This record gives sequence, structure tokens and C-alpha cells, in this order.
Amino acid sequence: MSGMKSAHIKFETAPDKVAKRITKMRPSAVRLLFAAATRPDIISLAGGMPDVSLLPKSAVRKAARAAVDDQAVTLQYGGTNGLFETAQVFCDIVRDIGIRHKPENVIITTGAQEALDLIAKTFCDPGDIVLTEGPTYLGALQAFSAYEPEIRTIEFDDEGMRMDLLEEELQRIGKGNPRLKFLYTIPNFQNPGGVTMSPERRKRLVELSHEYDFIIVEDDPYGRLRYEGGHCLPMRAFDDSVIYLGTISKMFAAGLRVGWIMAPPGVTAKINLAKQGTDLSGSVFDQKMAAAYFRDTPWQNTLQKFVKTYDKRRRAMLAAMEEFFPPEVKWTHPEGGFFVWVTLPSYVDAKSMLAEALDNGVIYAPGDSFYPDGKRGRNSMRLNFSYESPENIREAIRRLAEVIEGRLELYRAFINAGAIKE
Ligand SMILES: Cc1ncc(COP(=O)(O)O)c(C=O)c1O
Repeated sequence: MSGMKSAHIKFETAPDKVAKRITKMRPSAVRLLFAAATRPDIISLAGGMPDVSLLPKSAVRKAARAAVDDQAVTLQYGGTNGLFETAQVFCDIVRDIGIRHKPENVIITTGAQEALDLIAKTFCDPGDIVLTEGPTYLGALQAFSAYEPEIRTIEFDDEGMRMDLLEEELQRIGKGNPRLKFLYTIPNFQNPGGVTMSPERRKRLVELSHEYDFIIVEDDPYGRLRYEGGHCLPMRAFDDSVIYLGTISKMFAAGLRVGWIMAPPGVTAKINLAKQGTDLSGSVFDQKMAAAYFRDTPWQNTLQKFVKTYDKRRRAMLAAMEEFFPPEVKWTHPEGGFFVWVTLPSYVDAKSMLAEALDNGVIYAPGDSFYPDGKRGRNSMRLNFSYESPENIREAIRRLAEVIEGRLELYRAFINAGAIKE
């Protein structure tokens, strides 16, 4: 009995058994914020959720019925690469954005999130180098960091990742360095930056990937949600060595966990091996629903509804920022997607300001969460416009502006007194 007890105590104190890679993983302030987001007095600009209330019930029912009616398939184990019919549908829907891919070389994943994990699992040994935009998608940082690569970030401007800074970094890394594995980018309406990589930079990036021998991982969850400007070709459309990631989360349903990887056949085979150990196969039921939705319902009309609605919300946010934010505050101008990236003067800490914002009835995602070291981006924040109504967004920005103004007033006083430098 006493032996059992001590075994139990040992289990309770298991932190000393936990793998080093887990102890290095930081809890995400952004995920913790989801709890505050449910309070009725708070308007949340912190999340990144699609507004699924815009989906027509008839289309959802039709897709669900297709999955129920095929229960011998959909309630059974599936192949690791996924349902062929779903892969076919995904190949069809990417054709009109310029990508030609064979369904037998698609891997269907449990959301794009699993794709990020599988890619790092397939390519990264501890100490390998991965390049990303800085800031970048928090979930990618979480997925990659479990495999302990060194994540180096490249800043972006209004035209996406800066190729001059990338070239400098590549020169430091050196040509043919085996530690350099892949560069992860979100070229359309980047999360969290909201910026889009220009066609010239996409071309240059592909050239550099050949010159310095690294893989490009192109993550494109928001590409179809464009509210202004013309479509930019994905890099996968003009270079077969690019790994392209897609998802149904923002075009259809984030609750159905379905994404895909389109990669060269040799890479697909290796990722398939990695996926076998993770989950054998993704949800066949979800995959069947996804196939039915994109094949048998007027999904383009619904997509237009998403585009119109999100565009109104984006305009409400940009207009309110013009109206309420003090002149010291700068922000990006997204042509699509879900997010605006806001930069405050360097002396304002957006993370510590969050408590005041919460008191004032608004929350946002503090910028440091989107950097691998959690140290940079302290004076920045990501604001989401996809979920709240235009009225709520305006009110949220007004409340946020009050909080920022309060901070700036304090700092202006310090600066005037010579206590801190501008
Ligand atoms: C850039 C990016 N990649 C991947 C994902 C994960 O998407 P999924 O729901 O398909 O797992 C997200 C979700 O917000 C995202 O913003």
C-alpha cells in the first residue's frame, strides 16, 4: 500500500519526467484570453474565429447527410493520406488559384495545424534552422518548437517578408548549410501582420530557395478572403518544390478539422510516415462532409457572403482606428484575411496594458506571443475583425483608444520631465 502511495506521489511530481522540449514550451497568453472572451461585458478582438453563423443551414445539412449516409466509410478507419474523393475536391478548388496537383499526392490533415506539426516532425532535428516571418502565426511557433529547431525571424513591411533581410540571414547561414530546413510563410494577409507578399517578392523567394537549398512552406488559410486588390499567384503555382498548405477552416468550418498538404511526391511519402504515428488517419466523417460541401453546394456564393461581411467589419475597424487612435499609433492595412497589426510607441508595453484594456471592456492579442523568444513585439498587438459586428468593433476600438491614450499621457509626462527618452 505504502509502495503504491509513493508511486502516486512520484506521478504527481512528474514535472521532472517531462521532456525538455515540453518544459521549454511557453503557455500562450492568447489561448488563455479565450476565457475572458466569453464574458458578456468584453468585446474580444483577440481571437481568430470565422463567423460560422453565415453558413446556410441547408448546405451544412446536405454535407452532414452525405457523411451520415455513407457510414460504412465515414465511421470506419481511413487511409493515412485521406479520402481520395476529398483530395480530388481540394485539387479542383485550388485549380482556379493556379495550382495543379494530383489527388494521389495530397495528404489530408486534421486542420492546417496538424500539417505544421507534421512538417516539423518530418524535417526538424534539434538545432536545425527554420525561418519565418517575425511576427508569425503562434500555432506554427507552438508546432515547430516541439521539435526544437532554432527559429529565426525575418521582418515584413507592406509587401510582406523583406527579401533584403532574408538575403542577409541566408548569407549568415551560408549556402548548402544542412541545418537550414525550411522557410515558413503566410503570403496572403499574414497572421498576425495582415500584410501580403508582393508577386516580385514571391518570385525572389523561390529563386533564393533554390540558391540556398531550403524548402518553402506556403501556408494559405486566408487566400480566398480578399476584400480589395487583385489575386496574387501562390508560389506553389509556379514552383513544384513548394509545400502548399490549405484548410477549410476559414472558408467553411473550423470545427471540422480538415486541412491539406500539397507537396512533391517524395515529401508526401515521408509526411505520410510521420502522420501514421500521429493519428493513423484524420476524421473520415469530417473529410466526407468537406468533400460534399465543396462539390455539392453553392459554396462560392457563401464565400462571397463571408467576403462581404468580413470586409464591412474590416472597414469598420480601419475607420474607427482613424477616428480614435492617437497619432503615435501605426497599423497595417490588410487587403483580406482576419487581422490588423498595430504598433505602439516603443515605450508602451501592450502586454501589461492588457489588464487595463480588460477593465475597459476590450481584449486583444499582445504582440510578443507571435515571436519565438516572446521578447520582441512588446509594443504591438494583433486585432481581429472577423467575428464582431461593425458596431461592436467601433466600440471596441474606442475603448482601446482610451486605454492607449491613458498610457501615452503618462509617458508624455515622463518624456517632458526628461525621465525617459522618446
Ligand atoms: C496562418 C494559419 N495557419 C494555420 C492555422 C490553423 O488552421 P486550422 O484550423 O486549419 O488548423 C491558422 C488558424 O488560425 C492560421 O492562422
